[in-house]
Amino acid sequence: MKKKLIIAIDGPSGAGKSTLSKALAKRLDYLNIDTGAMYRSVALLAQQRGIDPHDGVALRALCDEMSIEFIRGDLSERVLVNGVDVSDAIRTPEVSLLTPQVSASPVVREAMVQLQQKMGAAGGVVLEGRDIGTVVFPYADVKFFLSATAAERGLRRYKELLAKGMDVELRQTIAEVEARDAADTARTFAPLMQADDAVAVDSTRLSIDDVLNKMLTIIEAKEAELTG
Ligand code: DC
Repeated sequence: MKKKLIIAIDGPSGAGKSTLSKALAKRLDYLNIDTGAMYRSVALLAQQRGIDPHDGVALRALCDEMSIEFIRGDLSERVLVNGVDVSDAIRTPEVSLLTPQVSASPVVREAMVQLQQKMGAAGGVVLEGRDIGTVVFPYADVKFFLSATAAERGLRRYKELLAKGMDVELRQTIAEVEARDAADTARTFAPLMQADDAVAVDSTRLSIDDVLNKMLTIIEAKEAELTG
């Protein structure tokens, strides 16, 4: 029987992590754990309850009582918080703005990392985030660090927003991507960092399928090594 692996995918926003980890999980029949969605869920609940993102005591109590589950829906994967589907509610601009503040809280990071370790311990998981290969699963079976230039990631984001009918400027979108990178890299707690043993994949000039095939080849080799 094939060994069920722990696969870590880290990288900056807009590099294609979500698309690729979902595609990988589907191909391998693994569970996809979107850790950004977990931090977004904490931010959503904090917002609903009027909790200050700097109030560590209140955030700790919130994390202790909340449950987060990922379930596979017919068309997409859903996130349930305390049994309620929040998959769309965690993607609003307000929650996106609040999330970096909440995810910078050491108590929130500690609680989420513990939960992620529990969810992934048995293997058969693809976890995507910023600190999976460095902090959450330093012993993951396969680690990828997915990147693309800020200009390319800004362009992808710009096209996404245009398709949603939003009035945006490319230069502004690229500047936002750069600002987010700087904040993600500079924070004291679990900054965005490539693990020494991660396979770096630059998706700037590659299609989703090209990247997916590249990753699958590496994963299959690892499966064979661990099974054989
Ligand atoms: O990947 P995303 O845009 O859904 O992430 C939302 C926020 O959560 C973003 O500010 C980065 C942060 N995050 C984090 O700090 N650590 C993770 N493992 C995943 C996301």
